[in-house]
Amino acid sequence: MAIALGIETSCDETGVALFCESRGLLAEALLSQTNHAQYGGIVPEAASREHVRQLPLLLKTCFQRAGIESAQLDIVAYTAGPGLLGALMVGAFFARTLASEWRLPAIGVHHMEGHLLAALIDNPETQPPFLALLVSGGHTQLVDVASIGAYTVLGETVDDAVGEVFDKVAIMLGLGYPGGAKVATLAERGDATKYHFTRPMLRKAGLDFSFSGLKTQVRYLIRDLGGVEALDAQKRADIAAAFEQAAVESLVQKTIRALHKTRRKCLIIAGGVSANTLLRKQLQRTTAALAVSLQYPKPALCTDNGVMIAYAGLVRYRLGQRDAATIAIKPRWPMSAINV
Ligand code: KG4
Ligand code: ZN
Repeated sequence: MAIALGIETSCDETGVALFCESRGLLAEALLSQTNHAQYGGIVPEAASREHVRQLPLLLKTCFQRAGIESAQLDIVAYTAGPGLLGALMVGAFFARTLASEWRLPAIGVHHMEGHLLAALIDNPETQPPFLALLVSGGHTQLVDVASIGAYTVLGETVDDAVGEVFDKVAIMLGLGYPGGAKVATLAERGDATKYHFTRPMLRKAGLDFSFSGLKTQVRYLIRDLGGVEALDAQKRADIAAAFEQAAVESLVQKTIRALHKTRRKCLIIAGGVSANTLLRKQLQRTTAALAVSLQYPKPALCTDNGVMIAYAGLVRYRLGQRDAATIAIKPRWPMSAINV
């Protein structure tokens, strides 16, 4: 049974994991870079340097936690794209160097395929075909999965990704960066009916999303109410709740459309925003009514991590993927361009 080392460095999380096909997760080490908070967003150059610093330390921690040695590994999997160029480069060099030193195959993984397959780690009986809603800080996509590796992107955002907008609203509400989960927590105390935002793209046909108009509506509302400093805690919570409701409803309505279109009987949600409780609840209700089964990763596997990359690497290895021994990264890499 093969064991993979997984390395994730596409953005501002440095993730390393050791995953065994038969025993499951052996060890994981994850560092979410906090040094970007003061800038209200990711500073790519700083992210790359932090990956350089952290990777050797996290690797050592992983081997210690797992109690295994490099000789027991079968593959080294790493995120080859999409993501920040410099950050991807660091992970690819690190992984490729280890693989050549240990004489192992290095497998370049598509970050969004990693997110998607994370939903299968604890649900191995779930197999394609299914529909996937992939929602993260960089992507908002509805993907039809005929089989692993055969992906058709049915719809995607025409502007901001939904996670990105959660992060921007968090900054507007004074919650700091990254703030998606903080907006969700604040929204729990709010009344979503106090303010109304129009639902992006719902009147438009098709399966694409748009979130920048919603972001602008939130910005104007806060401005019209006298700025964030003028808002008491309840008002901030009400705005967070109304925003979350509008964003989630857009995701849910488009997903229902895609389910009708594809007639798939299984829906997978993955990526950082799939940790959102309101989204999960609303999709649970909807899929139950449509007799569609719903699967998602446990919360720790929704956001970026090395486990999903190790797991996806093993899946790809079993599918026969063997990469040339070159350092090839793809900062832009559509999912539909993945080759089995
Ligand atoms: O998948 P991920 O870790 O990184 C990317 O590949 O982009 O997703 C991170 C995104 C961030 O935008 C973060 O604000 C959002 O996921 N996020 C959430 C929640 N937890 C993380 N958004 C809404 N509700 C949450 N509970
Ligand atoms: Zn991600």
